[in-house]
Amino acid sequence: MKSESIHKYRAFPAVDLPDRKWPDQTITSAPVWASVDLRDGNQALPVPMSIEEKLEFFQLLCRIGFKQIEIGFPSAADTEFNFCRHLIENDLIPDDVTIQLLVQTREHLIRRSFEAIKGAKRVIVHIYNSTSPLQRRVTFGNASREEIKQLAVDGAKLVKELAPLIPETEIMLQYSPESFSDTELDFALECCNAVIDVWQPSPEHKMIINLPDTVQWTTPNIHADMIEWMGRNLKRRDSVLVSLHTHNDRGTGTAATELGLMAGADRVEGTLFGNGERTGNLDIANVALNMNSHGIETGLDFSDLPEIRAVYERVTRMSIPERYPYAGELVFTAFSGSHQDAIKKGLDLRKKELEEDADTPWAVPYLTIDPQDIGRSYEAIIRINSQSGKGGVAYVLDREHGFDLPKTMHPTVGMLVYALADELGRELTPDEIREVFFDKFVNLDEPLALRDYELDHHAGNKGEVACHADISINGELKKISGLGNGPINAFVHALEQVDLKTFTLTDYRSHAVRGGSDADSAAYIQLKSLDDQTLVWGCGVDPSIEMAGLKALVSAANLLAAAKS
Ligand code: KIV
Ligand code: ZN
Repeated sequence: MKSESIHKYRAFPAVDLPDRKWPDQTITSAPVWASVDLRDGNQALPVPMSIEEKLEFFQLLCRIGFKQIEIGFPSAADTEFNFCRHLIENDLIPDDVTIQLLVQTREHLIRRSFEAIKGAKRVIVHIYNSTSPLQRRVTFGNASREEIKQLAVDGAKLVKELAPLIPETEIMLQYSPESFSDTELDFALECCNAVIDVWQPSPEHKMIINLPDTVQWTTPNIHADMIEWMGRNLKRRDSVLVSLHTHNDRGTGTAATELGLMAGADRVEGTLFGNGERTGNLDIANVALNMNSHGIETGLDFSDLPEIRAVYERVTRMSIPERYPYAGELVFTAFSGSHQDAIKKGLDLRKKELEEDADTPWAVPYLTIDPQDIGRSYEAIIRINSQSGKGGVAYVLDREHGFDLPKTMHPTVGMLVYALADELGRELTPDEIREVFFDKFVNLDEPLALRDYELDHHAGNKGEVACHADISINGELKKISGLGNGPINAFVHALEQVDLKTFTLTDYRSHAVRGGSDADSAAYIQLKSLDDQTLVWGCGVDPSIEMAGLKALVSAANLLAAAKS
């Protein structure tokens, strides 16, 4: 913003609460959760959900575990009214779920809402009127505090009068001083206490006082002060559930909710992935998963987040950004080399630690939770571009293709892979990474190629083996033979017979290729050049472990020849 614009704005007043308690609190249990996806979320959609889409979303919310679901604003539009009737008449509300409806504190709208809920077992009737000085002045044309409070009282009285007329329905009252976030605290309290006086809740029959952060005008600590102050001053506190309803104008919906819980709130309203007016409502999945990450049960099941996201995106036609907490495509992905190395080490160590203690707490660098706990796979964790590290390439070859490369081979393979990523200027797929690896290290047969071989286990002393091989060198065929304490050693001696041994063998590993379709074996051989000590690794892949070893040796010999040329 340009400095000439700054004069338009003012600091937000602090709350006079020097003995505030919330900064010393920690969150140790989950609040009552209430979804407002089908109301606050839906009313903010460019294309609101159809009845069928709302029903699908409602059923999704039930599966996740929400027990309180605001299903809409039945007095506002026919679709809303019809959706409410559809749920009730078709007995689609699970016994342990309470539907909630929103209505302004206006008589005809409250009466219409009561028509909508006939036949329901349990309903939260949520009445609201806006209370802030800004709304009183602008929207209500300079209405007085008394007039605004009276709206709330009249609404509460009417609900109290209508409730007994549908005795089969258990009604709970919820009151929101809308725009609480910029209402004078003493006035918000006056309105809430006036409604409490009408409704007379008891610890057995509680009511809900919802304190909306309708527009976030200030920082989460002030919101927490406001919640603590209200909690201290509300009448019949033991008979009231204090509820949070944060929006996200300053990008702090989650922080405001978490601090609000520390300030004593009992209940949280929000939506999946923060859908809602403007920058949206609180993302309930975010807060619930944050709690899970501290070992707190929430009663909400986000273990298949990709599926939840898919339904959400389809029915709301909204999309989730790649870096969005928990649900975004890239949130468990590391491109940077140092992060990849740390994650790989963390996952490897965890595997070992779990063998000793199945209850080892999650502790992997850069990953606040185990992606698998919310239905994400490890495959996407490490992705490779030119910024990636050697550990990342090795990780992808291992996890995606079953090749467990020796550690000292990682830098060379990594370098060639990033060189390609750099040249292409983009991320490489796991298949492209395998291609580079095969191209540069596996079964190389130029200038030296092993055409065929035969082993004779009776040719020498006990434990010795003779290798008779058909090779070609620069296209010229040769028959060679050698004796050794194993096939590779015998083949090396055979090469020596024809002056092709310019190296010593310094390392050898082999393993079955995990997940390989044709049950291949992989062997890795490191050679050191006799003259200048150059070290190279080569790899052989073959259904026969013996042949894989010989091919690894030939690959390494060819790489050594290339390094010298
Ligand atoms: O944000 C808000 O203030 C609301 C109220 C109606 C609860 O959605
Ligand atoms: Zn809202």
